[in-house]
Amino acid sequence: MKIEPAHATEAPELTVPVNDTLQDKTILVTGAGDGIGKAAALTYARSGATVILLGRTQQKLEAVYDLIASENLPEAVIHPLDLAIAGTDDYDLLGRSIQEQFPALDGLLHNASELGALGPIQYYAPEAWMKLMQINVNAAFLLTRALLPAMLQSPDARILFTSSSVGRQGRAYWGAYAVSKFATEGLMQVLADELADTSNIRVNSINPGATRTEMRRAAYPAENPMTLPTAGSLMPAYLHLMQPVSQPIHGQAIDIRSLLAEL
Ligand SMILES: NC(=O)c1ccc[n+]([C@@H]2O[C@H](COP(=O)([O-])OP(=O)(O)OC[C@H]3O[C@@H](n4cnc5c(N)ncnc54)[C@H](OP(=O)(O)O)[C@@H]3O)[C@@H](O)[C@H]2O)c1
Repeated sequence: MKIEPAHATEAPELTVPVNDTLQDKTILVTGAGDGIGKAAALTYARSGATVILLGRTQQKLEAVYDLIASENLPEAVIHPLDLAIAGTDDYDLLGRSIQEQFPALDGLLHNASELGALGPIQYYAPEAWMKLMQINVNAAFLLTRALLPAMLQSPDARILFTSSSVGRQGRAYWGAYAVSKFATEGLMQVLADELADTSNIRVNSINPGATRTEMRRAAYPAENPMTLPTAGSLMPAYLHLMQPVSQPIHGQAIDIRSLLAEL
């Protein structure tokens, strides 16, 4: 019998009150089972959206599904998918099934990522490099490509990529993770430019900065996590960028601290 970690069904502490700013919207969140993705999924549900929870670990997704159900929010949809091994057909199938089940897809938060190994490029294992780029970059391309037809049906869809400080300024020993975040910024910029005049889809990237999650603990094991902001405290920015009110923000590499200060 598998023993659940104690935190699995705990609701993240959110700074966003229940509201209806995303009512009748459908939003897909990748990496929705933990950390920032879990907080974002609950935030969007509390704002009235039907959330499609995509992630690797089914149990974690079920825990988020249960949290949403326990608050009588719009019923979520669970979609387990390991981005390391998913193929083009898996993404295309997901895209078709969303088009069949919903009038449109109104939001896509590309949040799932792996940290991978930290160390010098010279000693970075090639297989580990390829795997990390598959999860952090190629999967975002494949998912976006498959979901764009459903997003084009929305009156004001939003695509939000997740970056990092090391995806904006390279840093020694951050290896494939840093390079994958530079590529993420590139994907965001190219897509934003393509869609600027041909659709109402707004495309941006966000750098959440140091946040109290498992990924941060893995990167900085000696750091006291209690000194870091929680995922929940970032949610006003994640919510703002999914709302119709964020329409003028497009093609931007957003720094969360600046945005939170403005909200
Ligand atoms: N935390 C920070 O300080 C920080 C700083 C800058 C940027 N970021 C970025 O913020 C985003 C969220 O990170 P986080 O801190 O919330 O990390 P986290 O707590 O480790 O969560 C990462 C999520 O991604 C999912 N994931 C990883 N590999 C996957 C795969 N192969 N297939 C499907 N899902 C997969 C994980 O699923 P499982 O739980 O099932 O493994 C998990 O739900 C990431 O893009 C990260 O790069 C974080």
